[in-house]
Amino acid sequence: MSAAHPVGDALLAKAADRSALFGIVGLGYVGLPLAMELVRAGYRVLGFDVNAAAVERLNRGESHIQDVPTERLARAVREKKFSATTDLRRLAEADAISICVPTPLSKTKDPDVSYVIAATESVKASLRRGQLVVLESTTYPGTTRDLMLPALAATGLTVGVDFFLAFSPERVDPGNPKYNTRNTPKVVGGITEWCRRVAVALYQPAIDSLVPVSSTEAAELVKILENTFRSVNIGLANEMAIVCDKLGVDVWEVIEAAATKPFGYMKFTPGPGVGGHCIPLDPHYLAWKMRTLNYKTRFIELAGELNAAMPEYWVDKVAARLNEAGKAVRGSGVLVLGVAYKKDIDDVRESPALDVIRLLERRGARVSYHDPFIPHLHEEGVELHSVALSPAALTAADCVVIVTDHAGVDYAAVARHAKVVVDTRHVLPRAGTPA
Ligand SMILES: NC(=O)c1ccc[n+]([C@@H]2O[C@H](COP(=O)([O-])OP(=O)(O)OC[C@H]3O[C@@H](n4cnc5c(N)ncnc54)[C@H](O)[C@@H]3O)[C@@H](O)[C@H]2O)c1
Repeated sequence: MSAAHPVGDALLAKAADRSALFGIVGLGYVGLPLAMELVRAGYRVLGFDVNAAAVERLNRGESHIQDVPTERLARAVREKKFSATTDLRRLAEADAISICVPTPLSKTKDPDVSYVIAATESVKASLRRGQLVVLESTTYPGTTRDLMLPALAATGLTVGVDFFLAFSPERVDPGNPKYNTRNTPKVVGGITEWCRRVAVALYQPAIDSLVPVSSTEAAELVKILENTFRSVNIGLANEMAIVCDKLGVDVWEVIEAAATKPFGYMKFTPGPGVGGHCIPLDPHYLAWKMRTLNYKTRFIELAGELNAAMPEYWVDKVAARLNEAGKAVRGSGVLVLGVAYKKDIDDVRESPALDVIRLLERRGARVSYHDPFIPHLHEEGVELHSVALSPAALTAADCVVIVTDHAGVDYAAVARHAKVVVDTRHVLPRAGTPA
């Protein structure tokens, strides 16, 4: 390790004096906040995206990502620390390249790595001696070594000698007021020891704490373990909600009391299911990989099934509550409160609220929704506009179903005016719980 490595040493020097130019491929929820942290650390950043309209907006200093305030982006653009382009040939200019493109699932729940492949091809086309390439997108173990490395090595350049390749999963939690890209420890694994060393050195100025691991596979698995852990524990909490329901026990009372144990327990809560770009998708990347090795990841499958069944469970609850009020679902007005996939963000990807709405509409309900973060819904099979949360809207609805809780929503008004409430998030106080 201490032996001289002219190419590696040159990059370490560019990290030390911040003269390295970072290229960020994919300027979404992950890429743009990362770009801003790199700018804050003193680097210049060139952002790449295939979405020309987004690139234009970014170059005007307008942010499309809630966690990146427009003033912060505008300052970086003004000071010529950040610019964006659709011209991927300019990747040749970058000393370090972070790939932050989507990794969705196909309709059959298999990994769709087409964006990673496309980004790798772009990097390959201009790969030169002295570049670091880091994949940030969540993916199955082996992607960096088995998918990216052969493509990049086909240029004739040697990894760990001429160029460096690493995996470093992004852990950003959009809307989290406490933890952001900078203060969330960042895991880094390299194809070789020098790959890891160079990646750690280049990220170090921008991220408070780095966690080196011994391989790209270990780093890839860290991310999937984290999200599988969440999926499994949310699945358990959801199953406990069904169990408690059948036993006539308040699940929230049980969970709150269990959470007083100061060791050996971590609180997870039930809800309408899981949403977003990560928890419902990432574990399937590992499940798919293990299927290719003839191993079935049972926890992943089971948690996925339990979580995916929750919208149906809550729609059944709506039907039962309407029935108690002498009404059918068909023809009833149901106001869905909160459609983002989680609290205080403007993202509806994979949101269980969409399933709740589709299931209610399929049963003949007249569905409306209110979400201060989502003015319009144009999703597959769902075309709606957010309505104002007025006393009139609340009293007009036959049932209000709280799917996502957002700060600033007047839940006291909901409790006051709504005829029937189904509360998947335990926002309203429960009757009968001792004070
Ligand atoms: N959103 C999150 O909270 C989060 C958190 C941690 C990890 N991740 C992971 O990070 C990755 C990116 O997620 P995201 O939420 O930022 O996605 P996103 O959809 O918000 O952004 C991805 C961007 O990449 C661009 N893009 C697609 N193909 C491209 C290409 N070939 N070249 C250049 N740009 C291209 C898209 O136009 C888009 O702007 C995914 O693997 C995701 O699982 C996301």
